[in-house]
Amino acid sequence: MGEAGMTAERSPASASASASAPAPVLEVAGLARSFGAVRAVNGVSFQVRQGEVVSVIGPNGSGKTTTLNLLGGLLTPDSGEIRLHGRRIERLPAERRAELGIARTFQNGRVFASLPVADNVYVGQYAKLKRTRPFPRLRHLPVLRWLPLLAELLLALVQPPTVRREQSEAAARTETQLARFGTRLLPRADHRAHTLSYANRRRTEIARALALEPTLLLLDEPTAGMNQTETAEVLDQLLDLKAEGQTIVLVEHKIDLVMTVSDRVIVMDEGQAIAAGTPAEVRDDERVVEAYLGRRRAQREEASR
Ligand SMILES: Nc1ncnc2c1ncn2[C@@H]1O[C@H](COP(=O)(O)OP(=O)(O)OP(=O)(O)O)[C@@H](O)[C@H]1O
Ligand SMILES: [Mg+2]
Repeated sequence: MGEAGMTAERSPASASASASAPAPVLEVAGLARSFGAVRAVNGVSFQVRQGEVVSVIGPNGSGKTTTLNLLGGLLTPDSGEIRLHGRRIERLPAERRAELGIARTFQNGRVFASLPVADNVYVGQYAKLKRTRPFPRLRHLPVLRWLPLLAELLLALVQPPTVRREQSEAAARTETQLARFGTRLLPRADHRAHTLSYANRRRTEIARALALEPTLLLLDEPTAGMNQTETAEVLDQLLDLKAEGQTIVLVEHKIDLVMTVSDRVIVMDEGQAIAAGTPAEVRDDERVVEAYLGRRRAQREEASR
């Protein structure tokens, strides 16, 4: 394993000693989560630095989505630590993590089907709004959480200038993200999401995540179910995001795309990170070839029985 692979497993202390490397945005150490007897994620450690695109690949069921769910807060780990800009977040609920700048898309694609495309993107920024959502600290308290909700409702009715200003800024951000997808989404801004093609629903979801202007963007198979042309378009958009300095953790099966866009690749198998390094390093790693080919061989043998 080369230098980049070492970086993936380096401890936070030694990482901070390296002055020239950009600060880690994300530090994951010993992350584990089981479902009954299934160890979906079993002691995974890695770091993602500012502006890096780190891909997580691996055979079906190897724990990629579970890892993203643990990062995004949909799941809490059984053990292990997750730090965002040095701050422990592994016990925080998903909404708090969104407030701290983590945005995600889902493997199976999730949009609000009956909302227009623009509203789907607008709501992606909800965790970021401050004037519109007063008393943010109370939101996470069990009994007092109704207070900020009531205040939010009142502000929505009264519409003071500060709220109106914030909402027009949010509308502008929505427009910016829709424009990123050019003729695909912009002309359909008023269409309800359920009328969109599959690929456009997935684009809407990516635009929604980007509307948060995330510190860390988590993408779970953004090109799943897309044809070659659509996949190439997503690749271009990922390269644009990378050029803008967006930090990304990408789960993806399409190896060509992974090899083109990633700074580093982490390979999972049966809940563990079995290899990490630059795209070229992992491509030539025997354990990676075995994890993929060994699995396929076993499947072929099972099928021929
Ligand atoms: N909510 C759950 N309840 C029970 N088992 C789960 C749950 N989520 C995941 N698993 C199991 O954990 C393992 C890892 O699943 P995960 O979805 O993380 O894999 P993956 O690498 O994303 O696979 P794929 O490439 O097919 O999307 C699998 O054995 C899966 O069946
Ligand atoms: Mg998955």
